[in-house]
This record gives sequence, structure tokens and C-alpha cells, in this order.
Amino acid sequence: MIKAVTGTKDVLPSEIKNWYYVESLVKEIFTNFNYREIRTPIFEETSLFGRGIGEETDIVSKEMYTFVDRGNTSLTLKPEMTAAVVRAFIEHSLGAQQSINKLFYISQMFRQERPQAGRLRQFHQFGAEAIGSVSPFIDAEIIVIAYDILSKLGLKDLTVKINSLGTPAIREKYKTELKNYLSDKSDLLSQESKVRLEKNILRLFDSKSENDIAVMSNAPLLIDFLDEESLLHFNSVKVALVENSVPFEVDPKLVRGLDYYTHTAFEIISGKVGSQSALCGGGRYDNLIEELGGKPTPGVGFAAGIERILLAMENENVITKNYDVIDFYLIRIESDLESKAFELATLLRRNNYLVEMDYSNRSVKAQMREANRLNAKFTLWVGGDEYKDDSVMVKNMSGGEQSKISLKNFSSEIKKILEK
Ligand code: HAM
Repeated sequence: MIKAVTGTKDVLPSEIKNWYYVESLVKEIFTNFNYREIRTPIFEETSLFGRGIGEETDIVSKEMYTFVDRGNTSLTLKPEMTAAVVRAFIEHSLGAQQSINKLFYISQMFRQERPQAGRLRQFHQFGAEAIGSVSPFIDAEIIVIAYDILSKLGLKDLTVKINSLGTPAIREKYKTELKNYLSDKSDLLSQESKVRLEKNILRLFDSKSENDIAVMSNAPLLIDFLDEESLLHFNSVKVALVENSVPFEVDPKLVRGLDYYTHTAFEIISGKVGSQSALCGGGRYDNLIEELGGKPTPGVGFAAGIERILLAMENENVITKNYDVIDFYLIRIESDLESKAFELATLLRRNNYLVEMDYSNRSVKAQMREANRLNAKFTLWVGGDEYKDDSVMVKNMSGGEQSKISLKNFSSEIKKILEK
């Protein structure tokens, strides 16, 4: 039997309401903050991600689904949206139309990571990119939105962690300091960190190995190297978060796995999902647009993993059980009345009622069982004496009251019954 590919997951009809719930809340909150949706293709030219995310990052060096198409172009299934949104922003000159573009998305992403709870190879993110302003209030707005969405979904065990990564020049100076500090300690580091020492030194702070954590506990911190402008920006973001009731912790070791960040970086962590605890992450990227060939334009954004959020909701018991209910189940008493039942079902459906009927020529008893299984509010009985009288019978399944309604005035009489 062919099964779904490792690290991918079917969303079955029994789970779909949870997805609709998350997606509709996400859309509502983004809309209130005046973000508009952008959709970009599922694949891009491979070089976009190398240039955008950084060649030495894990995502680009190890995790991309890259293939050469029949035209000999190297393409990659998008591992994240920021580079793709920036590509579209530049390509369509969105910056020329308005000074700030506030964009949001909900889309699949692809990363060939080792699958585990909360970590998939095809997963879904919602997120936003606000392109065009250096204001620290836009950083704060992005964090407020991320926090509000997660809180409104009912999640409580949340920690917002923020840090400032300064400017690239500051980071280079800092990296030299960090290298000096680690120069006589590399023997103590894990194999993975030894490689990162050469290629992506900041990520040493992300290691889960106890030895690495011990070595890094006394390492110099980037936050102590920030210039005045970076500190002022960071401070304004923190004040805005306090004023807008977003609790947060400054985590000077928060570095993020993508290279494009400048100044603010943040993550929101759940205490309820195990080791893959980041529900969302983001930050400012003031040089990315220029690096991808656009005019120098600042930006800030975040993305959140929907599968992880659903897992957190399940573990915090905030997924309310879905009791699916239908408005009408049509019970056809005589088997030759199937076409009449279908006609009435269509009429009701066209009037926006959720309606089901039997298509398997089942007995009246079996149809009643089905009406109960589907939690029908009403059953509509087609046949019997009423039908000879050009009428049908409607039964309220909770109260048991029955009403005979004439087929001549079917729509208006149904309405009256429902209004009772
Ligand atoms: P990221 O931290 O790589 O950032 O991903 C954001 C979120 O996507 C994570 O916090 C996590 O919830 C989810 N996620 C990532 N990888 C997986 C996976 N393999 N399986 C399940 N969920 C996953 C970005 O992607 C940046 N583009 C965010 C951003 C937007 N920064 C600025 N603007």
C-alpha cells in the first residue's frame, strides 16, 4: 500500500473544523490590523532562498526540497515565505504604490527536517510581512498580532521572547569576539557545534547539548555590543509591548535560524508542546529587500506553525469538541419518492440549509438512525398519508413536535417552523 510520505500529514474531515477555526480567526485579526493577503507560488527559483535566508543556514544547506525541472531550472519548494513575499514585493513594485505594505499569508512550507511531534516536512504557516517602515511600532504591531492570535485561540502557556540582533556591522564585530571566546574551547563542543563554529557561529546558542550550553553560558552576548540607535529602537519596542499588555522576556541568547534579521527578533514559545516549542518566530529585516535586488526598504514580520498551534491547543484542552449538526435529514418513506426527496433537499440547500438525505435505498428505520447519527435538528418525512395530501411532515428532533406543511408553500412554511 502506498502511504503518505514521511513527514507529511493528511488533514481528515474530522479535523478540518479546527483548521477552519484557526484560519478564520487569523484572517479576522490580520484584517483588523489592516493586513491584506498575498499568495505566492509553491516553488521559486532556488537562488532566491540562498540569497534571502543565507547559504550557511540549516534551511538552505540541509533542508530544501530542490529539483531541476525539464527546462533545466533549479527550483525549490518554499521553505518559508519572507523571501518569496519580498521577491513579489520587488517584482510588482508594491513599494511604489504605498509607503507601507502590510501583507499576510497562510500557506504550506517544505523543509526536509527529521520529523517528530510538531515538526513536519510539509507544514503550514500563517504570517505577516510589513514592508516600508523603520518605526519600532511596526515591530510592536507584529508582535501584538502574533500574541493576540495565539491568546484568542485560547492558549495560555505562552512566553514571548525578544532580543535585538543589532546591525550586520555590529554582528560581525560581535562574531569576532565570540570566536575569540571560543578559540580555546572548541574541544568541549559537540560535533554539530564544531561545524557551526565555522559556518554559523550564532547558532551555537541554539544547541540542546549540555556541554554546549555550559560553554555558551559564559559567552559574551550580542546585546552588550549594541550601538545607541539599536538600543533606542529595542527600548521603544519593549515600551510599546508593555503599554499594549504583551508580557515578554528579553532573551539575549535568542538568535533565530535565518540570516536576514536586524534589530528585533522574537519567538513565542509554548510550554505544552515538547521540544519543538516555538509556535512562531520573526523579526526585522532591514537589508533583505536590497539584498534581493530592490531599493533599500525596511521590513518586519513573523510566521507561525499551524500544526504546532493545533498541538498546543489540543494539549491545553482548548479545542472544543466539534458537535457536527445538520439542519434537515430527509426521510423518504416510499422508495419511489427519491426524486421528490432530492428536489426538496436541493430547494432547502439553495436556501442555505445544511441538508442530507439517503442515497442508498435504506429502510425508514435505517434512515432514522442516520438522522440521529448526523445530529439532525429536523427530519422531513416524504411519503405516507401527508404526501397523498400534497404535504410533508417536519419533526423537531429535540422537542418532538411535528408539523404538516403543504408542498405548495413549502419554502415559506419551512421558514415559519424554523422561526418558532
Ligand atoms: P521560522 O522560525 O523558520 O521563521 O518558522 C516559523 C514557525 O514555523 C516556527 O516557529 C514553527 O512554528 C513553524 N515551523 C518551522 N519549521 C517547521 C516544521 N518543520 N514543522 C512544523 N512547523 C514548523 C520563518 O519561517 C520566518 N520566515 C519568519 C519571519 C517572517 N520572519 C520575518 N518574517
